[in-house]
Amino acid sequence: MDSIHIYGGNLLRGEIRVQGSKNAVLPILAATLLVRGTCVIRNCPRIADVYHMQNLLQELGCPVSWAGNTVTVNASKVSDNRMSGESVTRMRSSVMLLGAMLGRIGEAVMSYPGGCVIGRRPIDIHLAALRKMGVEITEEEQMFTARAVHLQGTEQKLSFPSVGATENVLLAAVLADGITVLENAAKEPEIVALCGFLTEAGADIEGIGSDRLVIRGVEELREAKYTVPADRIVAGTYVTAAMAAGGSIFLEEAPADQLGALLEAAEGMGCSVTINKEGIGIDSLRRLKPLPYLKTAVYDGFPTDLQSPMMVAMALAEGQGIIEESIFENRFRIVKELKKMGAEIETVKNKAYVHGVERLQGTMVDAEELRGGAALVVAGLAAEGRTVIRNRHFIERGYENICKDLRGLGADIAIG
Ligand code: UD1
Repeated sequence: MDSIHIYGGNLLRGEIRVQGSKNAVLPILAATLLVRGTCVIRNCPRIADVYHMQNLLQELGCPVSWAGNTVTVNASKVSDNRMSGESVTRMRSSVMLLGAMLGRIGEAVMSYPGGCVIGRRPIDIHLAALRKMGVEITEEEQMFTARAVHLQGTEQKLSFPSVGATENVLLAAVLADGITVLENAAKEPEIVALCGFLTEAGADIEGIGSDRLVIRGVEELREAKYTVPADRIVAGTYVTAAMAAGGSIFLEEAPADQLGALLEAAEGMGCSVTINKEGIGIDSLRRLKPLPYLKTAVYDGFPTDLQSPMMVAMALAEGQGIIEESIFENRFRIVKELKKMGAEIETVKNKAYVHGVERLQGTMVDAEELRGGAALVVAGLAAEGRTVIRNRHFIERGYENICKDLRGLGADIAIG
């Protein structure tokens, strides 16, 4: 049914190709709304969140079609301004459509977005930034309306370098009047990818990849084609799988330059990492050494999305380590599931104290959100015996085919 079954203990060996990036493709799909015509996005992962975005675009009047992993969006006409229902409330990235709709038609009515249960995740920074650009926002119980008679470029500084808020400002600014200067912008690679698509479509953006973006509004954007880069979080998840289960794998197209913090930690724990222009190789052939301290941070610090998979590797190390989660306050939901498998972890506020054990035991566990769910898969690969992970659908929000990928590396894993 909605589960994944794993017989753990196999060493991972082999080579697989890493899928396109979820967090890059979602704002890029939203950005296609800014183009009065057809855009072609290649290397789109076939994952639940992309299908939600497709539904939203279609509800707004823009036909979307697939051929393999290529998506074509025709935003010649936008016939609605209202976004509600499951696709909004289930996926936080639906909020990206706010900036895009303001840029395209100056108006959007939407439900408050949902997403993983990993924290409060308000959108106050998004709304404050858009207000500074002349957007009027009226909030009702479950919905809000955003309207901009005149979208105006402005200079502003984000109170925190929020990834989503940076993307929303970019989407609103590329067609706004005048120049937008955004200080304390997020620098995550997915923002660089969004800027790559927008630039391809004719946007004028300076400072790409830095914390200061300068966006000069242009009259209109043109039809564009873009290839989504590989997913650094999926690649990182498979690195942690090799660390925890042991073995020797190669991840084709894995972006080593975006995974510095993880690869450094892996080497610190005794793994050997090889990097070439084709991807990343990782060998983990002995018991992992402990990692005394790991703190999540904005890019290029250790990514919060890899914290749970890394916790599994640390739970199997020969000694203790502390994890400090500094981005999302509710990322430790998998601790109770890992404890069912024999892990020794205590949490105090935003810190997890991980005492490495020699092995985990397979059992029945529940995924409650995307990255925690993927971490349970990593734990299942390393555990003795059979692990059943319920609520597979959370994992399918971000992983195109985690079972097939891991079978390609020799794991005994299947959907159930
Ligand atoms: C994006 C990623 C997510 C990743 C996160 C941090 C996508 C689709 N998701 O999420 O996988 O874990 O970046 O790298 O790209 N915050 C506020 N108010 C706001 C906005 C954010 O308080 O208006 C807080 C959040 O609750 C969170 C922190 O800021 O505690 C970081 O959020 P943000 O950088 O915005 O992450 P997302 O864009 O939601």
